[in-house]
Amino acid sequence: MSTPSHQKALFLEAKQGRWAVRTTEVRKPGPGDIVVKVEAAALGGVEWKIQAWGILIKQYPTILGLDGAGTVVELGEGVTTFAVGDRVIFQGKWDTITGTSYGTFLQYFTGSAQFAVKIPDSISFEAASTVPLGVATAAFSIYNQADSAPSAKYLAPWLPGGRGKYAGKPIVILGGPTSHGQYAIQFARLSGFSPIITTGSLHNTDLLKSFGATHVLDRKLSDEEIKSQVTQIAGVPVELVYDAVSTAATLPLALALTAPRGNVIVVQFTPEELIAQGQKDGKAVHMAHGVFRTPINHEIGRTLLAKLPELLEIGDIKPNRWEVLPGGLNGIVGGLERMENDQVSGVKLVVRPQETD
Ligand SMILES: NC(=O)c1ccc[n+]([C@@H]2O[C@H](COP(=O)([O-])OP(=O)(O)OC[C@H]3O[C@@H](n4cnc5c(N)ncnc54)[C@H](OP(=O)(O)O)[C@@H]3O)[C@@H](O)[C@H]2O)c1
Repeated sequence: MSTPSHQKALFLEAKQGRWAVRTTEVRKPGPGDIVVKVEAAALGGVEWKIQAWGILIKQYPTILGLDGAGTVVELGEGVTTFAVGDRVIFQGKWDTITGTSYGTFLQYFTGSAQFAVKIPDSISFEAASTVPLGVATAAFSIYNQADSAPSAKYLAPWLPGGRGKYAGKPIVILGGPTSHGQYAIQFARLSGFSPIITTGSLHNTDLLKSFGATHVLDRKLSDEEIKSQVTQIAGVPVELVYDAVSTAATLPLALALTAPRGNVIVVQFTPEELIAQGQKDGKAVHMAHGVFRTPINHEIGRTLLAKLPELLEIGDIKPNRWEVLPGGLNGIVGGLERMENDQVSGVKLVVRPQETD
């Protein structure tokens, strides 16, 4: 395998600007880097918001995308953990301090070997590409024990003593059908949480139960109705609530469901008054941050990546269902529009960048 000098990539040209697929150089690997031929890239919930709202990214043009899977084609100096030909998953490079991104919406990704991991042969590139951000968001926000980590700080099920540790404790996951909600349900199962109560559209019930949800409540029920059902099902106060949606439709409910001194995990901006209201009752609100390369996540990321191939191989963690969008990188913009319009249900949208015209 050889690395070409140029490739196609999907650029967001300017803040709230236009998307364009165009030719750009393939970056040379620095020390510790690998170059991956990207066979599948998955769409996330944040990319359309960056374009529509002008948030998070400060430097343009930029290449977005946090989920990728492909084949290693070149090794930078000093890389010994991978060989050319290895099948891997990886996250796009997103630096939240500088507001820069070099993402997965391209054909050849160059980035640190530290944040990539080999995948079992039994898992397709498309399925694998649904894993990096979703797994990290759920795992880091529930289990990162670093002092200042935005996390509920439970003991991870892949660490000694963690498996089944929370048997008999209830958990609520609002929005189980989201990509990282599906992974949160599976980690909750590995941790022993029970019951695992989630919300979504009822046509996703079987899917969510296949991951380990014990009860699926219709997201269309009123907050009062959901609270009453959760109280009845859980039997005891719920100390951990994971709000995988975190919009006005779910945040008040998430806080109301959480026991005093319990933990609420949110995944996007939460109004100060809601946080203050929760804090009055001693509830801790943690803003999930599912990026491997952010330093606070390095240690938990290292232990997770060491175990992830095995978790995937034996089916302890199952990838999201996926749907391939036609047209390679040209298919991304239409997919993001569907996500913005709430027209994606229980499935991760994936493109094959090598199919780009
Ligand atoms: N902070 C972080 O590190 C981080 C990381 C990843 C994602 N996020 C954020 O997390 C959110 C979800 O992203 P995603 O890409 O994983 O998911 P997604 O694919 O955008 O989620 C779509 C799913 O959300 C469910 N949903 C929507 N509104 C709901 C509600 N009111 N109650 C229950 N379920 C609801 C729908 O379920 P049904 O189809 O069953 O109705 C749908 O299947 C986005 O806002 C994203 O930006 C944050």
